[in-house]
Amino acid sequence: MTNTRKPLELQIIEADITHLQLDAIVNAANHSLLGGGGVDGAIHRAAGPELLAHCKTLGGCATGQAKLTPGFRLPARFIIHTVGPVWHGGHQQEPELLASCYRQSLQLAEQQGLHSIAFPAISCGVYGYPLEQAARIAVTTIHAFSRQAHSLRQVYLVAFDDRMRTLLEKTLSEHAR
Ligand code: APR
Repeated sequence: MTNTRKPLELQIIEADITHLQLDAIVNAANHSLLGGGGVDGAIHRAAGPELLAHCKTLGGCATGQAKLTPGFRLPARFIIHTVGPVWHGGHQQEPELLASCYRQSLQLAEQQGLHSIAFPAISCGVYGYPLEQAARIAVTTIHAFSRQAHSLRQVYLVAFDDRMRTLLEKTLSEHAR
């Protein structure tokens, strides 16, 4: 049987992730899953109070792991909450944990049979991860996953400003070579 699986397409976009009408958007959450600032705050504000009520039933989330919830009032069908590592200099498993955030989120989306997913720059805000290193981990982890993707077809890396968009585009073009 010919392999009709379409390759996983990775695109860089500059957007407010809460506006994206996709199967899933990923939230850069904290261990409690009870909301916070940054993209976590934006997603909770846009999804509405039902999201917090639902998250209270999930028992939190470990760093590098991911949990799925409905999108509630968001245009996205689902939210995948993942907890990125706080940057402590790179010698406390930060790279492995950040890669795990992307991998676990992709696996969860795949298990759910989703076709599209968008990631913010996990750990690149409050958690202080160096942008270049984080961008490289995001691109290489997503590319490594494409071999096992079956329902997933569209992956977006969402920049919230021009600097991050330019960096992500540069990282993606370097990886493609
Ligand atoms: N859409 C897309 N990206 C966004 C949005 C948005 N609406 N808001 C912020 N971002 C970007 C930031 O510019 C940054 O590049 O998301 C990236 C991640 O930054 P943070 O939200 O600070 O997340 P992180 O660094 O992983 O820190 C997580 O912050 O908000 C708290 O509860 C959260 O404790 C957790 C910590």
